[in-house]
Amino acid sequence: MSTTPNHTPDTASRTVTSTTADWDNPLRDARDRRLPRIAGPSGLVIFGVTGDLSRKKLMPAVYDLANRGLLPPGFSLVGFARRDWEDEDFAQIVHDAVREHARTPFREEVWQQLAEGMRFVPGDFDDDTAFKQLKTAVEELDASRGTGGNFAFYLSVPPKFFPKVVEQLKKHGLAKAPEGSWRRAVIEKPFGHDLASAQELNAVVHDVFDPDQVFRIDHYLGKETVQNILALRFANTMFEPIWNRSFVDHIQITMAEDIGIGGRAGYYDGIGAARDVIQNHLLQLMALTAMEEPASFDAASLLTEKLKVLKAVKLPEDLGKHTVRGQYAGAWQGGEKVLGYLEEDGIDPASTTNTYAAVKLEVDNRRWAGVPFYLRTGKRLGRRVTEIAVVFQRAPHSPFDSTATEELGQNAIVIRVQPDEGVTVRFGSKVPGTSMEIRDVTMDFAYGESFTESSPEAYERLILDVLLGDANLFPRHQEVEESWKILDPIEGYWATHGRPARYASGSWGPEEADEMLARDGRSWRRP
Ligand code: BG6
Repeated sequence: MSTTPNHTPDTASRTVTSTTADWDNPLRDARDRRLPRIAGPSGLVIFGVTGDLSRKKLMPAVYDLANRGLLPPGFSLVGFARRDWEDEDFAQIVHDAVREHARTPFREEVWQQLAEGMRFVPGDFDDDTAFKQLKTAVEELDASRGTGGNFAFYLSVPPKFFPKVVEQLKKHGLAKAPEGSWRRAVIEKPFGHDLASAQELNAVVHDVFDPDQVFRIDHYLGKETVQNILALRFANTMFEPIWNRSFVDHIQITMAEDIGIGGRAGYYDGIGAARDVIQNHLLQLMALTAMEEPASFDAASLLTEKLKVLKAVKLPEDLGKHTVRGQYAGAWQGGEKVLGYLEEDGIDPASTTNTYAAVKLEVDNRRWAGVPFYLRTGKRLGRRVTEIAVVFQRAPHSPFDSTATEELGQNAIVIRVQPDEGVTVRFGSKVPGTSMEIRDVTMDFAYGESFTESSPEAYERLILDVLLGDANLFPRHQEVEESWKILDPIEGYWATHGRPARYASGSWGPEEADEMLARDGRSWRRP
């Protein structure tokens, strides 16, 4: 079995030898900050390997990392599932997933090297024999591939299985790292469905793994544009002085999807849009937008600042007026007749699950007091777009007469998370001509135009960070719990007050959401 790298890192052409010691070296950054971050000897075990996430995101991300030369030559991938597969069958499944979903081109030599390190363990989560086999597979890989005892266990399984899996990992001695190596647990959302269940899950996980061993995935934090929120704010001088209540009128955070729930009825029904994405992705975007500058860019400092924001979030007194939820109805969308939520396969026709949610929050601190943060998300909306719009107050006085400025909106800085990643600044400009007429224009930064490098998929970044032990982009349990504290009262209110409003697929959500902003004298952006 070859252990020689047969491909070079994409970010540098020089040879880089990668050992754990090298990459744990605190002087590494000082030597050369441009060195690519390459994982040391390691392997990944995926539970729930037959699921959609694994096939569409995790397996392709592992391949893309290998293709970019960011995995060690002996990197190993172990699948665990209730299937009667041999190693070769598993490798074939990964192969097909990679061919279909990988971001980077398929290269036979990269694939061959990766495939040599693939193992499959068949079994149930409560099957002791299977976990013994898993232990044997890990030890065999340490010996044959030089994984050095370093393994991450990725729980891509519904939360009800977390307790069993972590208990088995503990029982079979897999959670505890052998001397000089590491073991990590990677946990996919949802982290519970309310505060109490999240606390229970956290207790179960922390009973087996130390907090530093646990990596909770919020894949939005792996997106380049989300990381750019901090770069934009704290690597520049011109934004921060106006990033506060003295200049900002309000902030809108939108995550719109044009798709429905697809085949995810089992997961989605009873959960809904607010629990699915506001509790995690949107509150994380809000925390990054509102937080103070961290003392440094490390996990502990980021946690400190994000947590301060989440703890300072104030809910509106009248939840009936300042929150809205909806459910999509069937309609023609993009030339296609689509089903309403209640007609989707596997959905209870009486379901009150929300597929759209909008909430008004405030951050009760000196920087943000009185500035509303409007968060909205929905399935089957007009188009897929995620953005953060910081909307500024109108100029306190204008020397131009009002007819000159009637087409003028408010200044805004819009961080376009996806698609069409970039930043737009909107401001008024004189229309060419003899009269003084002022109209809105935009100034654009687009990733695609300014950089030649294409953005890695969020899962590439996050899996690499897990293997490197870099926890910056992973929410800690305190953040998860604080986020549930924000959402629980809203869900509680909704559960006892009527049904979600209906909105047509392809629209921008229920009318009630427009009314919610109109009452504040504002309107949603049409992204
Ligand atoms: C997931 C949600 O976390 O994010 C899905 O569970 C949603 O419902 C998905 O579709 C959207 O992710 P992205 O990266 O396509 O915006």
